[in-house]
Amino acid sequence: MLSLLNINVSYDGSRILRGVNLTVPEHSLVCLMGRNGVGKTTTLKAIVGLVKPEAGSVKLAGTELLGLPPDARARKGIGFVPQGRDIFPHLTVWENLKISLVVHGTKANGQVDRVLELFPILKEFLQRKGGVLSGGQQQQLAIARALLTDPQILILDEPTEGIQPNIIDLIGDTLLKIKKEGKISILLVEQYLDFCLSVGDSFYIMDRGAIVANGPISQLNNDIVKKHLTV
Ligand SMILES: Nc1ncnc2c1ncn2[C@@H]1O[C@H](COP(=O)(O)OP(=O)(O)OP(=O)(O)O)[C@@H](O)[C@H]1O
Ligand SMILES: [Mg+2]
Repeated sequence: MLSLLNINVSYDGSRILRGVNLTVPEHSLVCLMGRNGVGKTTTLKAIVGLVKPEAGSVKLAGTELLGLPPDARARKGIGFVPQGRDIFPHLTVWENLKISLVVHGTKANGQVDRVLELFPILKEFLQRKGGVLSGGQQQQLAIARALLTDPQILILDEPTEGIQPNIIDLIGDTLLKIKKEGKISILLVEQYLDFCLSVGDSFYIMDRGAIVANGPISQLNNDIVKKHLTV
């Protein structure tokens, strides 16, 4: 569904990503893991179009995305939930969702009921300002907004960061439900190991801008965790 081939990215002349290769197969949930500052968010930004790789290729269902601006990539089927959630605090829940409807038109309109069913709390709070929601509710809003664009792939950057356990479980269940529906593949950046073990099909681990391990989630053993994930 999504493939990154030999992606290199530099900021101000210093190399951040070094030849990143990563594949998200159809119908699967892939976890990209790694310690702070190794380049996970930068990898997602290269996919979404917020940084420009010097080399490599990013393909969605065979179509090259490099060179396209972020909005064009979104229309091709990339749904993005950024780190820190990034919802509009002064707009209501409904207005936050409506932004997707405006950008993606009737395509998104058809998704409203389905998405609100996934997140009943949002349905209840449609008229509340985004900024007064709890962190977990804002995360649900950010995911709902991305789903409204009817993506082929949903990309999430640390959705469990700073969120209480019962909402983490709810987010995990929702991701599994979405995956099971069979239309959306998922790429998840995550540092919370147990979450990856419970929802992931496969993993990639990044260290200093390069992929250093990958495989089916069942192969994510203690040695790999100790070497690349624990601080
Ligand atoms: N706009 C920028 N300009 C310069 N350097 C940057 C910029 N954005 C990120 N970096 C640097 O690139 C490296 C990778 O950052 P990135 O945000 O991709 O890491 P990360 O793995 O997502 O970390 P975290 O787990 O803390 O979110 C870091 O050393 C960071 O300081
Ligand atoms: Mg990050």
